[in-house]
Amino acid sequence: MSGGDDLEAGTVEHYRDARLYDFEYRRRRADVTFYRRLARELGRPPGKPLDVLELGCGTGRLLCALASDGHRPVGLDRSAEMLAVLRARLSRGTLRHRRVAILRADLRRFALRRRFDLVIIAFNTLQHVYHRREVVGVLGLSREHLAAGGRVALDVMNPDLGWLARDPERRWSRTKFRHPTTGASVVYTTNHLYDRISQVNHIRIYYQPERGPEEVVRVAHRMFFPEELLTYAELAGLRLERRYGDFSGGPLDDASEQQVLVLRAR
Ligand SMILES: C[S@@+](CC[C@H](N)C(=O)[O-])C[C@H]1O[C@@H](n2cnc3c(N)ncnc32)[C@H](O)[C@@H]1O
Repeated sequence: MSGGDDLEAGTVEHYRDARLYDFEYRRRRADVTFYRRLARELGRPPGKPLDVLELGCGTGRLLCALASDGHRPVGLDRSAEMLAVLRARLSRGTLRHRRVAILRADLRRFALRRRFDLVIIAFNTLQHVYHRREVVGVLGLSREHLAAGGRVALDVMNPDLGWLARDPERRWSRTKFRHPTTGASVVYTTNHLYDRISQVNHIRIYYQPERGPEEVVRVAHRMFFPEELLTYAELAGLRLERRYGDFSGGPLDDASEQQVLVLRAR
């Protein structure tokens, strides 16, 4: 179940249909608000434009908002499909969007000559890094790219053992929607199988159009337990500045769906 091919498929398949991705997450706004507020707060004085690097920027949901706020963002992603949608969005955007720089690269190995006030790894992107040495490596690279006093900010899921142990044979979250580009009526369902040894959750998303075969999209997510994540951050030379359980600044506790971390160099 946790072979390399499955992990690779689980890192790319969900991002091939980038317009569908944007459609599916169109209502996800709380994280964008959180990172915008954080960037505004970190400016000296508050509101001063920052150099921001987003690892796994995708279609630029967050990156474009940061550019609109006047920051100078650099977005890095390995998915050509996601970056194509980002480029299209930028070409339709305002002058401020011209400040956005895009780089197609692997976040596990990159080297930029610039340093940043804020490095962001948003919306579970770190969960596509499956092995502990690579996780420490990504956090270490993020730290190396920080300017003096800079922060690394990220969010990942807070593992919910009940949810992870759900029956993998059943289909969950049945939803009907109209595909944003084909216009076809599609039924969405999902399930997953969690591997407790590798801590990788192997998700399947099923798209059943009214006519034609069902499409199955694999998503792999490394689950990080809260104490474990702090250990990786420490091994990467980072220390915790703030930690939340949601994007409104609520505490991280048993009921939290997210872990939202703001880190700085030790
Ligand atoms: C859940 S999406 C998040 C996209 C964007 N940050 C957002 O909030 O909408 C994860 C992104 O990480 C990218 N990604 C995953 N593994 C990567 C890697 N090793 N190097 C670069 N990008 C990666 C994917 O292509 C995808 O665009």
